[in-house]
Amino acid sequence: MSAEYRPLIEKAVLDEAAFIRATFTGLVPTAEEPWKKVTLRTVEIRGVPHVQFSYFDERRCIAKNYRGPELYEALMRLLEWPVRNVSLDTTAESIQVTVAVNGKVAIRRQPAKAVEAVRAHDRKKSLLLPDGEPNAYLQAIGFMTKDGQIRADKQRKFKQTNEFLKFLDQTGELEKLDERPIHVVDFGCGNAYLTFAVYHFLNSVKQIPTRVTGIDTREDLLANHRQTAADLGWQDFSFLAQRIEEYVPDSPPTIAIALHACDTATDDALAMAIRHGSKIILSVPCCHHHLQAQLSAAAPPAEMAAAMQHGILLERMGDILTDAFRAQILRMHGYETDVIQFVSAEHTAKNVLIRAVLRSGSPSPRVAEEYAAMKAFWGVTPYLEKLISAAAVV
Ligand SMILES: C[S@@+](CC[C@H](N)C(=O)[O-])C[C@H]1O[C@@H](n2cnc3c(N)ncnc32)[C@H](O)[C@@H]1O
Repeated sequence: MSAEYRPLIEKAVLDEAAFIRATFTGLVPTAEEPWKKVTLRTVEIRGVPHVQFSYFDERRCIAKNYRGPELYEALMRLLEWPVRNVSLDTTAESIQVTVAVNGKVAIRRQPAKAVEAVRAHDRKKSLLLPDGEPNAYLQAIGFMTKDGQIRADKQRKFKQTNEFLKFLDQTGELEKLDERPIHVVDFGCGNAYLTFAVYHFLNSVKQIPTRVTGIDTREDLLANHRQTAADLGWQDFSFLAQRIEEYVPDSPPTIAIALHACDTATDDALAMAIRHGSKIILSVPCCHHHLQAQLSAAAPPAEMAAAMQHGILLERMGDILTDAFRAQILRMHGYETDVIQFVSAEHTAKNVLIRAVLRSGSPSPRVAEEYAAMKAFWGVTPYLEKLISAAAVV
């Protein structure tokens, strides 16, 4: 990277209080560093701020979290690579660096948008709403006491809800959605803490006109949610008592979310989202039984037999494979897909987030080849494939 703008980028990323995010594109892959794109964003790990580097090639995304000297070293390595574009946001400004084919560098600096400054300010506490300030909607859904404290028995859900919204926001895609209103569908919404939160977050915090549909089979729960929504005066907010797989959207879900939808209900949600071309999909799966049954029924690949003789390891392998197949199927349908830790295991053991953003252009044929190879090795057929084949999406 040219010495001309390197100090500017370096200073901005290392300013912990102000740095928000950066994207490096047009990197030239090498044998040691096969990455085409690297994104940086701030994350908190057990309350300590880090910068997360996500390294992308055509097929993979590897995320690493750094702080202190490790952050400095990782940044120095990154700044050594030839790059075509850098886009960086701090609380104070947006920086765009473009390197032309002839090596000519253009640097554009603009004051940060007010919303970014507010977001950065809130980032350290909570993206949704900080604990300790009375809020009508959090009180209405039973999260908060009258004096504005999150109830002790709701702390875990509050944390999960906030994290989910952070991961949604950090796609960087929300501002690019051009339809109005956007349509968010929460598949298997259950007690609907997330459903209410996403409505509030998009409409009130992000100021993106949004209609939200929650789907669940539990009509008893949904009747209460409808009443709460009516009490809050929230419009364009509906709850449908039906099975996910039977849902016929009145407008395609722009964003599909599913938090802990049981077993194959996650696949039903993913299939629905793929079928309707949802732009963003966030799913934290729950239990995984479908593939485990296939793994238990058949002899494992000889190379894995020693591991698979242990029930607990077979079960975990089933979890891993199910989510790996899901992610790969999403990639095969044009989604740039991450599989990342949602919250730390002390909050919930079901803590894998599949996050997918629809991209234009066809996926590399390698993606389907990898999928086929993984299936052949394990001798299984994922439920999501069956759903998609049945709907003739593949
Ligand atoms: C573990 S709860 C999670 C609820 C909520 N998303 C949350 O995280 O608090 C799973 C929910 O999915 C619903 N569910 C499971 N299978 C479903 C299906 N096929 N169609 C609709 N809802 C389903 C259940 O009724 C339940 O409310």
